[in-house]
Amino acid sequence: MAIIEVFNLTKVYTNPLTRKQKRAVDGISFSVEQGQIFGFLGPNGSGKTTTIGMLLDIINRTDGEIKLFGETNLNAARKRIGATLETPNFYPYLSGYDNLKIVAKIKGIGEERVQEILGIVKLSSRQKDAFKAYSLGMKQRLSLASAMLSDPDIIILDEPANGLDPEGIREIREIIKGLGRQGKTVFLSSHLLDEVEQTCTHVAVIKDGKLVKQGSVAELTSRNIARLQADDMDLLRTVLRSYGGVLSNETRDGAVFAALGEGTLSDLNRYLASQGVYVSHLSEARQSLEEVFLELTS
Ligand SMILES: Nc1ncnc2c1ncn2[C@@H]1O[C@H](COP(=O)(O)OP(=O)(O)OP(=O)(O)O)[C@@H](O)[C@H]1O
Ligand SMILES: [Mg+2]
Repeated sequence: MAIIEVFNLTKVYTNPLTRKQKRAVDGISFSVEQGQIFGFLGPNGSGKTTTIGMLLDIINRTDGEIKLFGETNLNAARKRIGATLETPNFYPYLSGYDNLKIVAKIKGIGEERVQEILGIVKLSSRQKDAFKAYSLGMKQRLSLASAMLSDPDIIILDEPANGLDPEGIREIREIIKGLGRQGKTVFLSSHLLDEVEQTCTHVAVIKDGKLVKQGSVAELTSRNIARLQADDMDLLRTVLRSYGGVLSNETRDGAVFAALGEGTLSDLNRYLASQGVYVSHLSEARQSLEEVFLELTS
């Protein structure tokens, strides 16, 4: 079941002085199914935070439609969302615990849940310290705790691992994967492509406010590419060019990488052998999400 659906979503900002318009989000459509960990990727200024703002009703949309849990009446649906924004706003002089207690009180949540969630984000031992004394990683974890406090069905996170060290990133990753295992739907924006590849099941890529790609991580990274080596690499390249099933090939790291389209490795191998080329290496190569992203956005 689609939990978040967006049709032709658009945000136009108008500069009040010059009246110049900026289409920050330009007619994007996508849908997120229940249980997906959905990565929303794009370069700086591409419209990620603006899109999240419109999902959460912090930013008014100029055009388009949003459905949450299949409903267009968003007020009730938004109560089932937990979210963190780019800059978490907590009271600096209050402790992590007291900050969460305020959120819990507003939402009618008991104190046991505050304790439980502090444990989940590994802040129990520092819960009495003032928020302003927290490291960036601890602040991010407190935001995450606040988003998860009401046990929402959808968790929306804007750059949850921004500025964290590898250990901090790993902790956030584990928490997000845990949410996925519980059947929660997570929608997150990120620049950390390697991280997204490890954490997310699906991604959408946005550039200049427009959606350029959407799909499962497996689908996007498994373009059918063969990695080949042979004693006579020149002959290998020549024969590859003569084979209709190879869309393109390039040489790097001492091997030839051939994009196969629909063809299989065995078909290719059979053809090469029929032309007198016996490969010393033939394997399926993957493209990293980072390579796919750079191809799409640069
Ligand atoms: N309040 C605003 N008024 C005018 N323009 C804005 C406003 N907020 C954002 N923009 C512009 O809209 C575009 C999209 O911004 P947005 O913050 O959504 O990008 P982003 O993808 O989240 O970027 P980042 O990766 O840097 O967080 C940018 O060109 C930005 O300058
Ligand atoms: Mg942003």
